[in-house]
Amino acid sequence: MVGGKTENCGMNGEKFYITTPIYYVNDKPHIGHAYTTIAADTLARWHAAEGDNVFFLTGVDENAQKTVDAAKKTGEEIHAYTDRLAALWQSTWEKLGISNTDFIRTTEERHVAVVKDFWRRLEAAGDIYRGEYRGLYCKGHEAFLKEDELVDGLCPDHKTAPELVVEENYFFRLSKYQKALLELYEENPDFVAPAHRFNEIKSFVERGLEDVSFSREKRDWGIPVPDDPGQVIYVWADALVNYISAVGIEWWEEHPADMHVMAKDIARFHAVIWPAMLMSAGLPLPGQIVVHGFFTLNGTKISKSLGNTIDPLDVAARYGADGLRYFLLREIPFGADGDFSEAKLRERYNGDLANGLGNFAARVLALAAKEESLPALGAEGAGAPDNEFAGVIEDTRRAVRAKLVALKFPEALAAVWEVISFGDRYVNEKKVWEINDDAARRAALANLTALLGAVGDMLAPFLPDASQKIKAALVREGDTVRAVKIEPLFPRAK
Ligand code: MSP
Repeated sequence: MVGGKTENCGMNGEKFYITTPIYYVNDKPHIGHAYTTIAADTLARWHAAEGDNVFFLTGVDENAQKTVDAAKKTGEEIHAYTDRLAALWQSTWEKLGISNTDFIRTTEERHVAVVKDFWRRLEAAGDIYRGEYRGLYCKGHEAFLKEDELVDGLCPDHKTAPELVVEENYFFRLSKYQKALLELYEENPDFVAPAHRFNEIKSFVERGLEDVSFSREKRDWGIPVPDDPGQVIYVWADALVNYISAVGIEWWEEHPADMHVMAKDIARFHAVIWPAMLMSAGLPLPGQIVVHGFFTLNGTKISKSLGNTIDPLDVAARYGADGLRYFLLREIPFGADGDFSEAKLRERYNGDLANGLGNFAARVLALAAKEESLPALGAEGAGAPDNEFAGVIEDTRRAVRAKLVALKFPEALAAVWEVISFGDRYVNEKKVWEINDDAARRAALANLTALLGAVGDMLAPFLPDASQKIKAALVREGDTVRAVKIEPLFPRAK
Protein backbone atom coordinates (compact mmCIF):
# COMPACT_ATOMS: atom_id res chain seq x y z
CA MET A 1 0.00 0.00 0.00
CA VAL A 2 2.55 2.53 -1.02
CA GLY A 3 1.29 5.91 -2.21
CA GLY A 4 1.69 7.67 -5.55
CA LYS A 5 5.01 8.07 -7.30
CA THR A 6 6.45 11.11 -9.00
CA GLU A 7 6.76 9.50 -12.39
CA ASN A 8 3.03 8.90 -12.53
CA CYS A 9 2.13 12.53 -12.18
CA GLY A 10 1.15 15.19 -14.56
CA MET A 11 -1.35 16.70 -16.89
CA ASN A 12 -4.29 14.80 -15.48
CA GLY A 13 -5.11 16.69 -12.31
CA GLU A 14 -3.84 13.86 -10.11
CA LYS A 15 -3.32 14.66 -6.48
CA PHE A 16 0.23 15.28 -5.40
CA TYR A 17 0.73 15.52 -1.65
CA ILE A 18 4.15 16.76 -0.49
CA THR A 19 5.40 17.73 2.97
CA THR A 20 8.31 19.32 4.80
CA PRO A 21 9.14 18.35 8.38
CA ILE A 22 7.25 20.34 10.97
CA TYR A 23 9.94 22.43 12.57
CA TYR A 24 10.55 22.95 16.27
CA VAL A 25 9.60 26.34 17.61
CA ASN A 26 12.51 26.65 20.01
CA ASP A 27 14.05 29.06 17.53
CA LYS A 28 13.43 30.93 14.30
CA PRO A 29 14.13 29.41 10.87
CA HIS A 30 17.72 29.22 9.65
CA ILE A 31 19.21 28.48 6.28
CA GLY A 32 18.94 24.67 6.73
CA HIS A 33 15.19 24.85 7.31
CA ALA A 34 14.90 27.25 4.40
CA TYR A 35 16.67 24.78 2.14
CA THR A 36 14.24 21.93 2.88
CA THR A 37 11.24 24.19 2.47
CA ILE A 38 12.51 25.77 -0.75
CA ALA A 39 13.34 22.37 -2.25
CA ALA A 40 9.87 21.07 -1.37
CA ASP A 41 8.32 24.27 -2.70
CA THR A 42 10.15 23.87 -6.00
CA LEU A 43 8.81 20.33 -6.37
CA ALA A 44 5.32 21.47 -5.36
CA ARG A 45 5.32 24.32 -7.89
CA TRP A 46 6.67 22.08 -10.59
CA HIS A 47 3.99 19.45 -10.02
CA ALA A 48 1.33 22.17 -10.08
CA ALA A 49 2.77 23.47 -13.37
CA GLU A 50 2.59 19.94 -14.77
CA GLY A 51 -1.12 19.91 -14.03
CA ASP A 52 -1.22 18.09 -10.69
CA ASN A 53 -3.58 19.02 -7.94
CA VAL A 54 -0.94 19.81 -5.31
CA PHE A 55 -1.31 19.80 -1.56
CA PHE A 56 1.87 21.17 0.01
CA LEU A 57 2.10 20.97 3.78
CA THR A 58 4.50 22.58 6.22
CA GLY A 59 4.09 23.58 9.85
CA VAL A 60 5.53 23.56 13.33
CA ASP A 61 6.15 20.95 16.02
CA GLU A 62 5.19 22.62 19.28
CA ASN A 63 4.76 19.81 21.79
CA ALA A 64 8.46 19.17 22.45
CA GLN A 65 10.03 19.68 25.84
CA LYS A 66 12.42 22.17 24.28
CA THR A 67 9.47 24.46 23.58
CA VAL A 68 8.92 24.71 27.33
CA ASP A 69 12.60 25.53 27.88
CA ALA A 70 12.65 28.12 25.09
CA ALA A 71 9.55 29.86 26.44
CA LYS A 72 11.09 29.92 29.92
CA LYS A 73 14.15 31.60 28.52
CA THR A 74 12.17 34.42 26.95
CA GLY A 75 9.93 34.70 30.01
CA GLU A 76 6.79 34.50 27.89
CA GLU A 77 3.72 32.51 28.80
CA ILE A 78 4.03 29.31 26.76
CA HIS A 79 0.96 29.76 24.54
CA ALA A 80 1.91 33.36 23.81
CA TYR A 81 5.38 32.10 22.96
CA THR A 82 4.22 29.34 20.60
CA ASP A 83 1.72 31.68 18.92
CA ARG A 84 4.49 34.19 18.29
CA LEU A 85 6.92 31.58 16.96
CA ALA A 86 4.33 29.84 14.78
CA ALA A 87 3.48 33.22 13.23
CA LEU A 88 7.18 33.91 12.71
CA TRP A 89 7.70 30.63 10.84
CA GLN A 90 4.62 31.21 8.76
CA SER A 91 5.57 34.75 7.79
CA THR A 92 9.12 33.67 6.96
CA TRP A 93 7.79 31.18 4.43
CA GLU A 94 5.48 33.80 2.97
CA LYS A 95 8.38 36.19 2.49
CA LEU A 96 10.42 33.47 0.82
CA GLY A 97 7.68 32.82 -1.72
CA ILE A 98 6.69 29.42 -0.31
CA SER A 99 3.44 28.19 -1.85
CA ASN A 100 2.27 25.90 0.95
CA THR A 101 -1.40 24.95 0.90
CA ASP A 102 -1.67 24.56 4.66
CA PHE A 103 0.36 25.22 7.79
CA ILE A 104 -0.15 22.84 10.68
CA ARG A 105 0.56 23.42 14.36
CA THR A 106 0.62 20.42 16.66
CA THR A 107 -1.24 22.32 19.37
CA GLU A 108 -4.28 22.64 17.09
CA GLU A 109 -7.33 20.62 18.02
CA ARG A 110 -7.50 19.04 14.54
CA HIS A 111 -4.07 17.53 15.22
CA VAL A 112 -4.59 16.52 18.84
CA ALA A 113 -7.77 14.62 17.96
CA VAL A 114 -6.11 12.60 15.21
CA VAL A 115 -3.08 11.82 17.39
CA LYS A 116 -5.35 10.36 20.06
CA ASP A 117 -7.26 8.37 17.47
CA PHE A 118 -3.99 7.14 16.03
CA TRP A 119 -2.75 6.07 19.47
CA ARG A 120 -5.91 4.03 19.99
CA ARG A 121 -5.32 2.29 16.67
CA LEU A 122 -1.81 1.27 17.78
CA GLU A 123 -3.25 0.06 21.08
CA ALA A 124 -6.00 -1.90 19.33
CA ALA A 125 -3.34 -3.60 17.21
CA GLY A 126 -1.66 -4.78 20.42
CA ASP A 127 1.41 -2.67 19.71
CA ILE A 128 1.43 -0.49 22.83
CA TYR A 129 2.59 -1.92 26.17
CA ARG A 130 3.87 -0.57 29.48
CA GLY A 131 7.46 -1.02 30.52
CA GLU A 132 10.34 0.58 32.33
CA TYR A 133 12.59 2.78 30.34
CA ARG A 134 16.14 3.56 31.20
CA GLY A 135 18.04 5.69 28.79
CA LEU A 136 20.08 8.74 27.97
CA TYR A 137 17.75 11.38 26.64
CA CYS A 138 19.02 14.22 24.46
CA LYS A 139 16.64 17.15 24.42
CA GLY A 140 18.24 18.53 21.28
CA HIS A 141 17.22 15.43 19.35
CA GLU A 142 14.13 14.72 21.48
CA ALA A 143 15.37 11.14 21.36
CA PHE A 144 17.34 8.61 23.38
CA LEU A 145 20.99 8.13 22.54
CA LYS A 146 23.04 4.97 22.92
CA GLU A 147 26.10 5.01 25.18
CA ASP A 148 28.38 4.35 22.20
CA GLU A 149 26.97 7.33 20.31
CA LEU A 150 28.30 9.78 22.90
CA VAL A 151 31.60 11.58 22.56
CA ASP A 152 33.22 12.35 25.93
CA GLY A 153 29.84 11.79 27.52
CA LEU A 154 28.21 14.42 25.29
CA CYS A 155 25.78 14.29 22.39
CA PRO A 156 28.07 14.73 19.38
CA ASP A 157 25.56 17.01 17.62
CA HIS A 158 24.40 19.22 20.47
CA LYS A 159 27.52 19.07 22.67
CA THR A 160 25.30 18.66 25.71
CA ALA A 161 25.18 15.90 28.31
CA PRO A 162 22.11 13.70 27.89
CA GLU A 163 19.88 13.24 30.89
CA LEU A 164 19.57 9.77 32.49
CA VAL A 165 15.89 8.93 32.41
CA VAL A 166 14.38 6.01 34.32
CA GLU A 167 10.63 5.92 34.09
CA GLU A 168 7.52 3.90 33.34
CA ASN A 169 6.55 4.47 29.73
CA TYR A 170 4.37 3.05 27.06
CA PHE A 171 6.33 1.30 24.35
CA PHE A 172 5.59 0.82 20.69
CA ARG A 173 6.36 -2.64 19.31
CA LEU A 174 8.64 -1.46 16.55
CA SER A 175 10.56 -4.76 16.60
CA LYS A 176 7.47 -6.54 15.30
CA TYR A 177 7.72 -4.64 12.02
CA GLN A 178 11.29 -5.44 11.04
CA LYS A 179 10.30 -8.05 8.49
CA ALA A 180 7.44 -6.01 7.03
CA LEU A 181 9.75 -2.99 6.71
CA LEU A 182 12.41 -4.99 4.91
CA GLU A 183 9.75 -6.29 2.54
CA LEU A 184 8.51 -2.77 1.95
CA TYR A 185 12.06 -1.66 1.06
CA GLU A 186 12.53 -4.68 -1.18
CA GLU A 187 9.32 -4.03 -3.09
CA ASN A 188 9.81 -0.28 -3.39
CA PRO A 189 13.33 0.43 -4.57
CA ASP A 190 12.65 4.20 -4.54
CA PHE A 191 11.03 4.33 -1.13
CA VAL A 192 13.95 6.41 0.16
CA ALA A 193 15.93 8.69 -2.14
CA PRO A 194 18.78 9.15 -2.83
CA ALA A 195 19.95 5.52 -2.92
CA HIS A 196 22.86 5.90 -0.49
CA ARG A 197 20.47 7.11 2.20
CA PHE A 198 18.22 4.15 1.47
CA ASN A 199 21.16 1.80 1.99
CA GLU A 200 21.84 3.33 5.40
CA ILE A 201 18.22 2.82 6.39
CA LYS A 202 18.15 -0.77 5.15
CA SER A 203 21.27 -1.78 7.01
CA PHE A 204 19.99 -0.07 10.16
CA VAL A 205 16.80 -2.14 10.01
CA GLU A 206 18.68 -5.32 9.08
CA ARG A 207 20.73 -4.98 12.28
CA GLY A 208 17.49 -5.42 14.24
CA LEU A 209 14.95 -3.07 15.77
CA GLU A 210 14.21 -2.37 19.40
CA ASP A 211 10.82 -1.26 20.64
CA VAL A 212 10.62 2.47 21.25
CA SER A 213 9.43 4.38 24.24
CA PHE A 214 6.34 6.20 22.99
CA SER A 215 5.39 8.27 26.03
CA ARG A 216 6.95 10.31 28.80
CA GLU A 217 5.96 10.51 32.45
CA LYS A 218 4.36 13.50 34.19
CA ARG A 219 4.75 16.33 31.73
CA ASP A 220 2.44 19.28 31.67
CA TRP A 221 3.18 20.04 28.02
CA GLY A 222 2.24 17.70 25.19
CA ILE A 223 -0.67 15.47 24.25
CA PRO A 224 -1.84 13.23 27.12
CA VAL A 225 -2.01 9.48 26.48
CA PRO A 226 -5.68 8.57 26.08
CA ASP A 227 -6.99 7.21 29.39
CA ASP A 228 -3.72 7.86 31.22
CA PRO A 229 -3.24 11.52 32.09
CA GLY A 230 -0.01 10.62 33.91
CA GLN A 231 1.77 10.24 30.57
CA VAL A 232 2.17 12.39 27.48
CA ILE A 233 2.68 11.00 24.00
CA TYR A 234 6.31 11.01 22.84
CA VAL A 235 6.78 14.10 20.71
CA TRP A 236 7.79 12.11 17.61
CA ALA A 237 4.80 9.77 17.90
CA ASP A 238 2.73 12.95 17.97
CA ALA A 239 4.62 14.98 15.34
CA LEU A 240 4.67 12.35 12.57
CA VAL A 241 0.90 12.17 12.66
CA ASN A 242 0.70 15.79 11.46
CA TYR A 243 0.91 14.48 7.90
CA ILE A 244 -2.47 12.84 8.48
CA SER A 245 -4.08 15.36 10.79
CA ALA A 246 -3.66 18.19 8.28
CA VAL A 247 -5.65 16.38 5.61
CA GLY A 248 -7.78 14.03 7.72
CA ILE A 249 -7.71 10.24 8.00
CA GLU A 250 -10.16 9.74 5.12
CA TRP A 251 -8.04 11.76 2.72
CA TRP A 252 -4.92 9.87 3.84
CA GLU A 253 -6.64 6.51 3.34
CA GLU A 254 -7.40 7.51 -0.19
CA HIS A 255 -4.24 9.45 -0.91
CA PRO A 256 -1.29 9.25 1.49
CA ALA A 257 1.61 11.67 1.09
CA ASP A 258 3.50 11.16 -2.13
CA MET A 259 6.66 12.70 -0.79
CA HIS A 260 8.08 13.61 2.62
CA VAL A 261 11.09 15.92 2.22
CA MET A 262 13.69 16.37 5.01
CA ALA A 263 17.38 16.21 5.92
CA LYS A 264 19.27 13.08 6.93
CA ASP A 265 18.96 13.81 10.68
CA ILE A 266 15.36 12.64 10.75
CA ALA A 267 15.32 10.06 7.94
CA ARG A 268 15.07 7.12 10.35
CA PHE A 269 11.98 8.52 12.00
CA HIS A 270 10.34 8.83 8.58
CA ALA A 271 11.60 5.71 6.85
CA VAL A 272 11.46 3.28 9.80
CA ILE A 273 9.21 4.37 12.66
CA TRP A 274 6.58 6.18 10.57
CA PRO A 275 5.85 3.31 8.16
CA ALA A 276 5.76 0.89 11.11
CA MET A 277 3.25 3.14 12.89
CA LEU A 278 1.13 3.28 9.75
CA MET A 279 1.26 -0.49 9.30
CA SER A 280 0.19 -0.93 12.90
CA ALA A 281 -2.66 1.57 12.45
CA GLY A 282 -3.77 -0.15 9.25
CA LEU A 283 -3.18 2.93 7.12
CA PRO A 284 -1.48 3.30 3.75
CA LEU A 285 2.18 4.27 3.52
CA PRO A 286 3.74 7.37 1.98
CA GLY A 287 5.18 7.13 -1.51
CA GLN A 288 8.69 8.37 -0.94
CA ILE A 289 11.01 9.70 1.73
CA VAL A 290 13.28 12.26 0.11
CA VAL A 291 16.42 13.03 2.09
CA HIS A 292 18.93 15.81 1.64
CA GLY A 293 22.23 16.47 3.37
CA PHE A 294 23.24 18.83 6.10
CA PHE A 295 24.40 22.38 5.74
CA THR A 296 27.37 24.00 7.31
CA LEU A 297 27.94 27.73 7.46
CA ASN A 298 31.34 28.79 6.18
CA GLY A 299 32.51 25.26 6.89
CA THR A 300 31.19 24.87 10.45
CA LYS A 301 28.06 23.22 11.77
CA ILE A 302 25.02 25.48 11.96
CA SER A 303 23.73 25.50 15.49
CA LYS A 304 22.14 27.91 17.83
CA SER A 305 24.41 26.85 20.66
CA LEU A 306 27.46 27.65 18.54
CA GLY A 307 25.86 30.98 17.69
CA ASN A 308 26.38 30.66 13.95
CA THR A 309 22.96 30.59 12.44
CA ILE A 310 21.94 32.67 9.50
CA ASP A 311 18.52 34.17 9.01
CA PRO A 312 17.21 33.42 5.50
CA LEU A 313 15.23 36.67 5.65
CA ASP A 314 18.44 38.71 5.98
CA VAL A 315 19.79 36.97 2.90
CA ALA A 316 16.53 37.50 1.01
CA ALA A 317 16.52 41.19 1.97
CA ARG A 318 19.85 41.60 0.20
CA TYR A 319 19.56 39.20 -2.74
CA GLY A 320 15.82 38.70 -3.04
CA ALA A 321 13.98 35.48 -2.20
CA ASP A 322 14.89 34.33 -5.71
CA GLY A 323 18.57 35.03 -5.09
CA LEU A 324 18.50 32.81 -2.01
CA ARG A 325 16.45 30.12 -3.75
CA TYR A 326 18.79 30.13 -6.74
CA PHE A 327 21.93 29.78 -4.68
CA LEU A 328 20.59 26.93 -2.55
CA LEU A 329 19.16 24.97 -5.46
CA ARG A 330 22.02 25.62 -7.90
CA GLU A 331 24.95 25.16 -5.57
CA ILE A 332 24.13 22.08 -3.50
CA PRO A 333 23.69 18.67 -5.12
CA PHE A 334 20.52 17.38 -3.48
CA GLY A 335 21.42 14.66 -1.02
CA ALA A 336 24.97 15.82 -0.42
CA ASP A 337 26.07 18.01 2.47
CA GLY A 338 26.46 21.64 1.48
CA ASP A 339 28.07 24.81 2.72
CA PHE A 340 26.48 28.22 2.87
CA SER A 341 28.72 31.20 2.42
CA GLU A 342 27.70 34.66 1.43
CA ALA A 343 30.77 35.08 -0.75
CA LYS A 344 29.72 32.09 -2.83
CA LEU A 345 26.16 33.33 -2.95
CA ARG A 346 27.28 36.76 -4.18
CA GLU A 347 29.38 35.15 -6.88
CA ARG A 348 26.47 33.05 -8.12
CA TYR A 349 24.11 36.00 -7.86
CA ASN A 350 26.27 38.38 -9.85
CA GLY A 351 27.46 35.77 -12.33
CA ASP A 352 24.37 33.71 -13.08
CA LEU A 353 21.52 36.03 -12.15
CA ALA A 354 22.64 39.65 -12.69
CA ASN A 355 24.95 39.00 -15.67
CA GLY A 356 23.30 35.83 -16.91
CA LEU A 357 19.53 35.70 -16.77
CA GLY A 358 19.01 39.37 -15.85
CA ASN A 359 21.20 40.67 -18.61
CA PHE A 360 19.74 38.34 -21.23
CA ALA A 361 16.17 39.31 -20.29
CA ALA A 362 17.04 43.03 -20.36
CA ARG A 363 18.71 42.81 -23.78
CA VAL A 364 15.94 40.82 -25.41
CA LEU A 365 13.17 42.93 -23.92
CA ALA A 366 14.84 46.24 -24.78
CA LEU A 367 15.27 45.19 -28.43
CA ALA A 368 11.87 43.55 -28.75
CA ALA A 369 10.03 46.44 -27.08
CA LYS A 370 10.98 48.62 -30.06
CA GLU A 371 8.94 46.39 -32.38
CA GLU A 372 5.26 45.95 -32.96
CA SER A 373 3.94 42.60 -31.69
CA LEU A 374 6.06 39.61 -32.74
CA PRO A 375 4.89 36.12 -33.73
CA ALA A 376 4.78 33.91 -30.63
CA LEU A 377 6.07 30.37 -30.18
CA GLY A 378 3.71 28.02 -31.99
CA ALA A 379 2.60 30.69 -34.50
CA GLU A 380 2.70 29.61 -38.16
CA GLY A 381 4.13 31.30 -41.21
CA ALA A 382 6.97 33.63 -42.14
CA GLY A 383 8.72 35.34 -39.23
CA ALA A 384 7.48 32.83 -36.61
CA PRO A 385 10.04 31.31 -34.20
CA ASP A 386 12.03 28.78 -36.24
CA ASN A 387 12.37 25.05 -35.75
CA GLU A 388 15.85 25.24 -34.30
CA PHE A 389 14.59 27.43 -31.46
CA ALA A 390 11.44 25.42 -30.94
CA GLY A 391 13.62 22.29 -30.81
CA VAL A 392 16.12 23.74 -28.33
CA ILE A 393 13.25 24.89 -26.11
CA GLU A 394 11.59 21.48 -26.21
CA ASP A 395 14.86 19.69 -25.45
CA THR A 396 15.47 21.96 -22.49
CA ARG A 397 11.99 21.40 -21.11
CA ARG A 398 12.55 17.67 -21.35
CA ALA A 399 15.94 17.92 -19.65
CA VAL A 400 14.55 20.02 -16.79
CA ARG A 401 11.72 17.57 -16.26
CA ALA A 402 14.07 14.57 -16.23
CA LYS A 403 16.44 16.27 -13.78
CA LEU A 404 13.60 17.22 -11.45
CA VAL A 405 12.21 13.68 -11.43
CA ALA A 406 15.71 12.63 -10.35
CA LEU A 407 15.82 15.46 -7.73
CA LYS A 408 18.80 16.99 -9.53
CA PHE A 409 18.12 20.66 -8.90
CA PRO A 410 21.58 21.97 -9.89
CA GLU A 411 21.49 20.06 -13.16
CA ALA A 412 17.94 21.22 -13.92
CA LEU A 413 19.05 24.83 -13.47
CA ALA A 414 22.23 24.24 -15.44
CA ALA A 415 20.07 23.06 -18.36
CA VAL A 416 18.13 26.33 -18.28
CA TRP A 417 21.36 28.32 -18.11
CA GLU A 418 22.65 26.49 -21.17
CA VAL A 419 19.69 27.71 -23.14
CA ILE A 420 20.24 31.24 -21.81
CA SER A 421 23.83 31.09 -23.06
CA PHE A 422 22.59 29.79 -26.39
CA GLY A 423 20.29 32.84 -26.62
CA ASP A 424 23.09 35.21 -25.64
CA ARG A 425 25.38 33.78 -28.30
CA TYR A 426 22.62 34.18 -30.86
CA VAL A 427 22.19 37.88 -29.98
CA ASN A 428 25.95 38.42 -30.30
CA GLU A 429 26.53 36.38 -33.43
CA LYS A 430 23.60 37.89 -35.29
CA LYS A 431 24.30 41.34 -33.86
CA VAL A 432 20.54 41.61 -33.57
CA TRP A 433 20.73 45.30 -32.58
CA GLU A 434 22.35 46.10 -35.95
CA ILE A 435 20.01 44.20 -38.28
CA ASN A 436 18.42 46.77 -40.55
CA ASP A 437 16.23 44.43 -42.54
CA ASP A 438 12.87 44.54 -40.75
CA ALA A 439 11.81 40.98 -41.55
CA ALA A 440 15.17 39.48 -40.53
CA ARG A 441 15.35 41.52 -37.31
CA ARG A 442 11.78 40.67 -36.38
CA ALA A 443 12.39 36.98 -37.09
CA ALA A 444 15.45 37.00 -34.81
CA LEU A 445 13.49 38.75 -32.08
CA ALA A 446 10.60 36.31 -32.45
CA ASN A 447 13.11 33.54 -31.73
CA LEU A 448 14.55 35.38 -28.76
CA THR A 449 11.24 36.33 -27.16
CA ALA A 450 10.07 32.73 -27.58
CA LEU A 451 13.23 31.57 -25.85
CA LEU A 452 12.94 34.11 -23.05
CA GLY A 453 9.28 33.23 -22.51
CA ALA A 454 10.18 29.56 -22.28
CA VAL A 455 12.97 30.35 -19.83
CA GLY A 456 10.47 32.30 -17.73
CA ASP A 457 8.15 29.30 -17.78
CA MET A 458 10.79 26.75 -16.94
CA LEU A 459 12.08 28.85 -14.06
CA ALA A 460 8.67 29.24 -12.43
CA PRO A 461 9.20 26.46 -9.87
CA PHE A 462 12.69 27.71 -8.98
CA LEU A 463 12.51 31.52 -9.19
CA PRO A 464 8.84 32.46 -8.89
CA ASP A 465 9.41 36.25 -8.75
CA ALA A 466 11.70 36.52 -11.74
CA SER A 467 9.55 34.11 -13.70
CA GLN A 468 6.49 36.22 -12.99
CA LYS A 469 8.27 39.39 -14.12
CA ILE A 470 9.47 37.79 -17.34
CA LYS A 471 6.02 36.50 -18.14
CA ALA A 472 4.47 39.90 -17.41
CA ALA A 473 6.98 41.54 -19.78
CA LEU A 474 5.88 39.31 -22.65
CA VAL A 475 2.24 40.11 -23.26
CA ARG A 476 0.64 37.36 -25.27
CA GLU A 477 -2.14 38.39 -27.66
CA GLY A 478 -3.40 35.41 -29.64
CA ASP A 479 -0.54 34.22 -31.82
CA THR A 480 1.60 37.26 -31.12
CA VAL A 481 3.62 38.59 -28.24
CA ARG A 482 4.38 42.19 -27.32
CA ALA A 483 7.46 42.92 -25.23
CA VAL A 484 7.66 45.50 -22.47
CA LYS A 485 10.94 46.83 -21.06
CA ILE A 486 11.50 46.05 -17.39
CA GLU A 487 13.62 47.16 -14.46
CA PRO A 488 16.71 44.95 -13.97
CA LEU A 489 15.58 41.58 -12.60
CA PHE A 490 18.70 41.25 -10.45
CA PRO A 491 20.53 44.50 -9.72
CA ARG A 492 24.24 43.76 -9.27
CA ALA A 493 25.25 43.13 -5.65
CA LYS A 494 28.27 45.05 -4.35
N1 MSP B 1 10.28 18.56 14.70
C1 MSP B 1 11.13 17.63 14.07
C2 MSP B 1 10.53 17.14 12.77
C3 MSP B 1 9.22 16.47 12.90
S1 MSP B 1 8.59 16.00 11.35
C4 MSP B 1 7.29 15.02 11.72
C5 MSP B 1 12.46 18.30 13.75
N2 MSP B 1 12.47 19.62 13.67
S2 MSP B 1 13.74 20.52 13.32
O1 MSP B 1 13.32 21.89 13.51
O2 MSP B 1 14.89 20.10 14.03
O3 MSP B 1 13.95 20.34 11.80
C6 MSP B 1 14.82 19.37 11.27
C7 MSP B 1 14.87 19.59 9.79
O4 MSP B 1 15.25 20.97 9.53
C8 MSP B 1 15.89 18.80 9.03
O5 MSP B 1 15.45 17.50 8.72
C9 MSP B 1 16.04 19.65 7.81
O6 MSP B 1 14.91 19.55 7.02
C10 MSP B 1 16.09 21.04 8.42
N3 MSP B 1 17.43 21.38 8.89
C11 MSP B 1 17.77 21.84 10.12
N4 MSP B 1 19.09 22.11 10.16
C12 MSP B 1 19.65 21.82 8.97
C13 MSP B 1 20.95 21.93 8.43
N5 MSP B 1 21.97 22.39 9.12
N6 MSP B 1 21.11 21.54 7.15
C14 MSP B 1 20.08 21.08 6.40
N7 MSP B 1 18.85 20.97 6.88
C15 MSP B 1 18.59 21.29 8.17
O7 MSP B 1 13.43 17.59 13.54
